[in-house]
Amino acid sequence: MTACAAACADAPSDETLARRYPLDRWYVAGFADELKDQPLGRRFLDQPVVMFRTPDGQVAALEDRCCHRSLPLSRGTLEGQGLRCGYHGLLFDALGRCLEIPGQPKVPTKARVRAYHLREKDHILWIWMPRQAGTAPICEPPDYPVHDDPRYRFGHGSYHYNAPWQLIHDNLLDLSHLGYVHLKTIGGNARLHMNAPTRVSSEGLGVTVVRHMAGSTPPPTYRAAWPFGETCDRWQEIVFQPSHLAIWTGAMAPGEAALDDPARGGFHMRGFHGITPESETTAHYFWSMSANRHPDLPDTLSTVIEQTRFTFDEDKGVIESQWAAMQRSGGPSAWVDIHTDAGGVRARRVISGLIAAQQVAAGAADLSPSAAAGAVDGVVA
Ligand code: FES
Ligand SMILES: [Fe+2]
Repeated sequence: MTACAAACADAPSDETLARRYPLDRWYVAGFADELKDQPLGRRFLDQPVVMFRTPDGQVAALEDRCCHRSLPLSRGTLEGQGLRCGYHGLLFDALGRCLEIPGQPKVPTKARVRAYHLREKDHILWIWMPRQAGTAPICEPPDYPVHDDPRYRFGHGSYHYNAPWQLIHDNLLDLSHLGYVHLKTIGGNARLHMNAPTRVSSEGLGVTVVRHMAGSTPPPTYRAAWPFGETCDRWQEIVFQPSHLAIWTGAMAPGEAALDDPARGGFHMRGFHGITPESETTAHYFWSMSANRHPDLPDTLSTVIEQTRFTFDEDKGVIESQWAAMQRSGGPSAWVDIHTDAGGVRARRVISGLIAAQQVAAGAADLSPSAAAGAVDGVVA
């Protein structure tokens, strides 16, 4: 490998990125409370990024590489005017402009680093990953009002995965695994899970999977949070979007209401799952869990969050083992699909459709954006 190739190994071209990931999209970069008085470095879609909060409370994101000698800026320190590199002290503002070179009066105009659009919304950090560096977002980040819904309180966490992001989509869109993987927390009767009536539908880039399980055995986490009897009526509603999934689950006393009644009572767990590729083979998984409290029980949120974390630890073990086996013995082309895979298969088609549309748009100068979008919609229709 040449010196240049080695130096550029982490900087794929715009064309390469467009073959790997859906671009011109908001991705989850973390949670707002992660940005305090220290810069935070993460890699998103093969691009090193440093995030920080300015003294006036705004969030900012820059390329995590100093333009002087490439030290990651995440090793630097925050000051009133911006982020100071931890090697020779160049100071950068939130737009990536170098404001000061200690000991050198003139700052060259090319002394700057790339800036990314970062937004703080509903306690979530969203980063815009553009098709072309420097272009502005064409839409607002998704809404997630549950975090400020007074009926719920939430906790959150994150994982770094040694596995591709779409294996996490597969896992979250097929909750039949609960009865085999999560028996200590949110599992329950495995046969009931595998036989639950399931509805799968698509709309735009979204995929929805709904499963209802009347007469289910309340699993341990549900029992810890709610005074269930021997059985409960249980629901799972999963909505996939390319950047994140919202998973509404819960249970109520048998027959208390219709399972598809939006006003149903009982115990509710509302999960947010931001899945962001770090690279083609690694991923960030940012999750939150919101739950309601039974009026006659002490606050059980810490128990719910603790058991959620344990549950997601179990998923990580499964998915990373799955990826290790795939590297030895072959990927999706070697798989046999079963009835529980419908949601995951559709989500994979959404992602591949977005990437295909980017190739079409790049290869056909006369193809309008609306035609490219139509090509994507056609994939999931
Ligand atoms: S590497 Fe950043 S100031 Fe030298
Ligand atoms: Fe799971």
